[in-house]
Amino acid sequence: MSRRTVRFGIIGCGLMGREFASAVARWCHLLDTDAIPEIYAVCDANPQATEWFSQNFTLGQITADYRELLANPEVEAVYCAVPHNLHEKLYIEIIQAGKHLLAEKPFGIDLAACQNILAEVNRHPELLVRCSSEFPFFPGVQRIVKMIQEGAFGKIIEVRSGFLHSSDLDPNKPINWKRRIATCGEYGCMGDLGMHVLHVPARVGWKPKNVRALLSKVVDQRPDGKGGMAPCETWDNAILACETENGFPMVLEAKRISPGDMNSWFVRIVGTENSAEFSTKNPKSIRTMPYKSGVPQAWHVEDIGYRVPYKTITGDIFEFGFSDSLLQMWAAFLDELVHREGMKGDFRCATPQEALVSHQLFTAALASQKASSTVMVDG
Ligand SMILES: NC(=O)c1ccc[n+]([C@@H]2O[C@H](COP(=O)([O-])OP(=O)(O)OC[C@H]3O[C@@H](n4cnc5c(N)ncnc54)[C@H](O)[C@@H]3O)[C@@H](O)[C@H]2O)c1
Repeated sequence: MSRRTVRFGIIGCGLMGREFASAVARWCHLLDTDAIPEIYAVCDANPQATEWFSQNFTLGQITADYRELLANPEVEAVYCAVPHNLHEKLYIEIIQAGKHLLAEKPFGIDLAACQNILAEVNRHPELLVRCSSEFPFFPGVQRIVKMIQEGAFGKIIEVRSGFLHSSDLDPNKPINWKRRIATCGEYGCMGDLGMHVLHVPARVGWKPKNVRALLSKVVDQRPDGKGGMAPCETWDNAILACETENGFPMVLEAKRISPGDMNSWFVRIVGTENSAEFSTKNPKSIRTMPYKSGVPQAWHVEDIGYRVPYKTITGDIFEFGFSDSLLQMWAAFLDELVHREGMKGDFRCATPQEALVSHQLFTAALASQKASSTVMVDG
């Protein structure tokens, strides 16, 4: 089978830039893909960050100036993984340069930035622009999404979804850009983790009507790396209690300081005819509880294995993990880039409109925290 090569430029060669490159290096893991990404150009303002790339890839361009990468006609698509204060400017310029874009969340540092990016996206329907969010590609989440779409839950009683970290529990961890409002944004942990929490609800059309937010700052200051201490300005933890337009309550959690949790993403749906839950803590299994009058209420645990949207060399009985979810997300992006409406998979990457829904909620959540009351979500 001949496969179309899509030449990528990476802007931002930190944690996530490397994760993308690693997924590209593992592309042979996928079967039946008719597009293959190539890391052609890399850009980071810090030249040291590109060294790992030149050690591991044959590159056509290495630059510290993203405008040089955007001017390169060999680059067809861009993955941009930079601090949140740069999203608006860079995403808009990437789109104006005529490049397809997989952007990172939160897709703009605040609501206005997201709206400005979205306006540029709408001016360029010929380009594919999506927002990174990999957890829905876990097989257990895919099963739950299908259950939602088939109406398997009956009347939904309540939804909980969350993304919990303990990466900031250690007060000795030095400050970084994610703890500063100027670079991470007022949203704090919501901008950092919240899109992951909202992706499935936004995809299935569960829209928060209002929100009562409980935001907390747990660690006030951190070592500044120069022998002193620096204030932590951003929210560490968020609990968002929402009434939805769909008529049931939805509780969303995004926490950077949740002892015992490392990258734990979960969803739990409770309904009159079925309930289901999945957590990346138990990535193999989903729990479901069908209910019929007179029948005992008992949770069923099913090991779901490696049943993925995009087939791989891995057998169905093996385990699925974080890097597999990134590979599946990238397979969906390439599938949609090449086939657009005719894409082969049925779960596309998060859309700019879905990112906007998350911004509308986070903006209302900040107002709710300030007023200590419930606030309507605009949109
Ligand atoms: N999808 C996920 O699971 C996930 C996980 C972590 C972070 N993220 C997102 O990815 C983005 C980047 O986060 P990260 O953890 O990779 O950050 P990082 O700090 O590890 O990397 C960011 C890189 O951007 C570079 N950079 C800064 N300004 C630049 C400029 N003007 N031009 C080019 N490069 C520049 C920095 O030097 C750094 O190497 C953020 O939007 C973050 O929210 C997503």
